[in-house]
Amino acid sequence: MNSEDFDMIQSGIIYFDNGATTLKPRVLGEAISDYYNHYSSNAHRGDYEISIKASSEYENTRDIVAELINSKSSKQISFTSGTTDSINKIVFGFFRHYLKKGDEVLLTKSEHASNVLPWFELADEIGIKVKYIELDSNHKVTMENVKKAITANTKVISLAHVSNVVGDVRPIKEITEYAHSKGILVLCDGAQSVPHMKIDVQDLGVDFLTFSAHKMCGPTGVGVIYVKEDHLDNIKPIIFGGGMNAEFDNTGTRIYKSMPDLLEAGTPNIAGVIGFGYVIKYLNKIGLDKIHNHELDLREYLISKLKENPNIEIYNENSESGIVTINYKDIFPQDLSIYLDKHHICTRAGSHCAKILKDELKIKNTCRISLYFYNTKEEIDKLVDALNNPNIKMEII
Ligand SMILES: Cc1ncc(COP(=O)(O)O)c(C=O)c1O
Repeated sequence: MNSEDFDMIQSGIIYFDNGATTLKPRVLGEAISDYYNHYSSNAHRGDYEISIKASSEYENTRDIVAELINSKSSKQISFTSGTTDSINKIVFGFFRHYLKKGDEVLLTKSEHASNVLPWFELADEIGIKVKYIELDSNHKVTMENVKKAITANTKVISLAHVSNVVGDVRPIKEITEYAHSKGILVLCDGAQSVPHMKIDVQDLGVDFLTFSAHKMCGPTGVGVIYVKEDHLDNIKPIIFGGGMNAEFDNTGTRIYKSMPDLLEAGTPNIAGVIGFGYVIKYLNKIGLDKIHNHELDLREYLISKLKENPNIEIYNENSESGIVTINYKDIFPQDLSIYLDKHHICTRAGSHCAKILKDELKIKNTCRISLYFYNTKEEIDKLVDALNNPNIKMEII
């Protein structure tokens, strides 16, 4: 769908590394260059026309993001530089004050580094414990295992909505309902879900949601924190400076602004945020439900084709997203990716930043094929042809 909007696809590339970042439609470059060429100025600072326009376009994106995820209000949306930045700001701006020694946070072993390392750091700093929800035989999170992992000390569950390696979709709504009944808060890492499906934060009930613009056709260097209304007054900044303060004097007295400005110290990525707004409008026009269904259709097709090749091991046949993780018998995943690149096919090899998942998969590295709406069955056929090449090993040597 819509592949004509992407110059890189038109140039002949087959791009299956959408879990890492997506391609950008022309509309993004146009919106960004319009800002730089026609109204480049700081947002929220000027009293002149172009700065007012920059501020208004910037704030307009906040409204668009709020609508995208059905946030009650735009003040619950802060812009960051990406999911990593968002999670760090929540862990150190909220949970550092909320948690105390001995409290437990539940993760899984398939979380991305950005949802593990901040918790390790906080554990070292204030003595909380990091524990893991067991994954089932399909590497999925089940309610049964969530309940089993919860103890009287559990205070937070911090999970990706969709894992970036095995692509399993976690039952976040059910988990949140249960967690809240036990007084446990939920941080949902939406980096791999918000770009691919309709998300409703009020329906999910999560306390925090984070995601990155660059994984949904947007610019690099822009991310989002959604904060549930109940916590708006309890999140503290971890970066201090202009834009987030209302007043300060030479005695050190200072008054900070409230959310969302509170978490946006310094000049933000104005061009990127503005571009992100245009990209969300573009995605909305296609329709997130349509995008989701197209990906599931492609996934089914890809799996059925891969299964015809006995040399291919699929690690997540039963997941429900556009992420398919494989290995080719006796070929190192990196070599496979380099081989596919010779056919102009981009895939991702490695641990995909989920370095503790190796304990579950019993394998450290895999090759990941991650789909998006602009991928087609014809592209999958080319990938499968390359994988079915009887001389594949010779070509790799
Ligand atoms: C599930 C998940 N969480 C977090 C991140 C980190 O996102 P970013 O690098 O945009 O900060 C990624 C990136 O791959 C991801 O897949």
